[in-house]
Amino acid sequence: MPVLLDGLERLEYRGYDSAGVAVVSAGEGLQIQKCKGRLRSLRDKLDSLPPLTGTTGIGHTRWATHGEPNDVNSHPHVSQNGRVAIVHNGIIENYAEIKQFLLQQGVRFRSDTDSEVVAQLLEYCFDGCGDILDAVYAVLERLEGAYALGILCADRPDVLIAARKDAPLLLGYGDGENFIASDATAIIRHTRRVAYMEDGEVAVLTADSAAVFDAYRRPVEKQIHTIDWDVSAAEKGGYAHFMFKEIMEQPEALRHTISPRLKDGQITFGELRLADDFLRRMHRIYLVACGSSYHVGMLGKYNLERFLRLPVEVCLASEFRYSDPLVDENTLVVVISQSGETLDSMAALREAKARGGYILSIVNVVGSSIARESDDVLYTWAGPEIAVATTKAYSTQLAVLTMLGLYMARRLGRVEEAEYAAVTAELAVLPEKLEKVLACTDACQYLASLYFNREHVFFIGRNLDYALGLEGSLKLKEISYIHSESYAAGELKHGTISLIEPGTLVVALATYEKLLDKAVSNIVEVKARGAEVVALTTESGRERLEQLATHTLVIPDTHPVLRPNLGVAPLQLLAYYIALHRGCDIDKPRNLAKSVTVE
Ligand code: M6R
Repeated sequence: MPVLLDGLERLEYRGYDSAGVAVVSAGEGLQIQKCKGRLRSLRDKLDSLPPLTGTTGIGHTRWATHGEPNDVNSHPHVSQNGRVAIVHNGIIENYAEIKQFLLQQGVRFRSDTDSEVVAQLLEYCFDGCGDILDAVYAVLERLEGAYALGILCADRPDVLIAARKDAPLLLGYGDGENFIASDATAIIRHTRRVAYMEDGEVAVLTADSAAVFDAYRRPVEKQIHTIDWDVSAAEKGGYAHFMFKEIMEQPEALRHTISPRLKDGQITFGELRLADDFLRRMHRIYLVACGSSYHVGMLGKYNLERFLRLPVEVCLASEFRYSDPLVDENTLVVVISQSGETLDSMAALREAKARGGYILSIVNVVGSSIARESDDVLYTWAGPEIAVATTKAYSTQLAVLTMLGLYMARRLGRVEEAEYAAVTAELAVLPEKLEKVLACTDACQYLASLYFNREHVFFIGRNLDYALGLEGSLKLKEISYIHSESYAAGELKHGTISLIEPGTLVVALATYEKLLDKAVSNIVEVKARGAEVVALTTESGRERLEQLATHTLVIPDTHPVLRPNLGVAPLQLLAYYIALHRGCDIDKPRNLAKSVTVE
């Protein structure tokens, strides 16, 4: 139980609608406890009961898909005669059909979940064949959809079985103990030696052995990787929230991302395989991602088109796969993902691959599914990111994407020497400049105290500032639950400006001197309708904006393509402090999960 509960605590950021554990022992059979709510509710429940005993167990925290978050729908799910218990991540798409079949056989269901069918079908097959592994293979053959499964059987208390398809799952090899987990953070206290399960694989673990089989039940030799980051990287280390810690870690994360790839003013990506021949025939680039990673893509579009003079499409991963995308063997598809496990992005990657595209991913989690399925991968090296709202992963993704654009442009001879030198010089000092921005938290704290009770907030900006506004707005609504939208400032007059009324808060992003006059006009327009304006600008824009805006936040001057890397920090801090004032659960906002492994 301590191993399970500690592991769940470290994984809770991935889902927190309910929590549950099951252990199995020869004497007691299967023992299960689960309940709605956070892990602490489960801990309270367990404290009030006689201890569960056993050394084989599974645990789960849930992000609800099928069936509301309640005690019964929590995992683990148990078969009707209590011989099998399972935990499941993913969605069983044909669960209704399986359920119908089992109901006809007289099986009684308890929950509204898709997952319960796995437990019930397993017991049904086990009753028929008498061997739990045979039963697992029979069940997997009938399942459609995505799953990472942990399975216990009362008749085999020494055994834990795992299976994977389209949902993350790894094995941990210990000394006299072995593990499964959806993320290494859960088991790093016990072992650093892990192997990533592939789709179709089934693992059979005991304390002393870990055998893996493929979909045809042939033994598989797994490659063992050693996790090289320290357990403290996934701990709060004295900070009140992971989000704040991760905001403050951004300069260091950027150093890790940039410095090994920037030598004597030259960008080098030693890890890239991207061939000259492909680069020369590349005629289109797609940037594909979800959420904040998509916002990185929005910024990347401007920068990559500027450097490469090639059409760059930025596409939401969930839309991409259904949009009949124009991908061929001369298309570069850049998939951006912190977790490397986002199912929408994974599905888009496979769609692009099937159409012949060259897949380059920008990923934070080493060894994740997206990284493994890509032709090339650039890691962001931001370290574990725990808060649901991404911060340091966003910043490092942005730096990698900008560097990638410049690097490709250089290889293709499409970037002016002066521009290349100017951007690389500023990249080298970006972490220090960001440190300066982060040293001024007071201004954001003060603004949060003024505006935390607003119902609506609008972000406006043009070009890179518009794309940056999308991220500022998402951060705010995600953790503070304030309704917020980001608009291309030039679009206001085409409809949105009707929403502005006396006292409306508008965050005006004006970091781009080429468009400063336009930004000023848009600020004047919203002020004329009574808006209160918080402007974000650079040192060069300070004087003009201070005369005009209600409040002004200032970032150091840097090369225009890198400004969003500095500008995002005050927006993250503003969202953080507003959420703090509102008493929100900052690291685990309602209805969300860190890693979105369902479609
Ligand atoms: O792990 P990914 O980068 O693929 O995740 C994509 C989005 O789910 C993620 O950025 C999400 O929008 C964050 N909660 C934003 O803070």
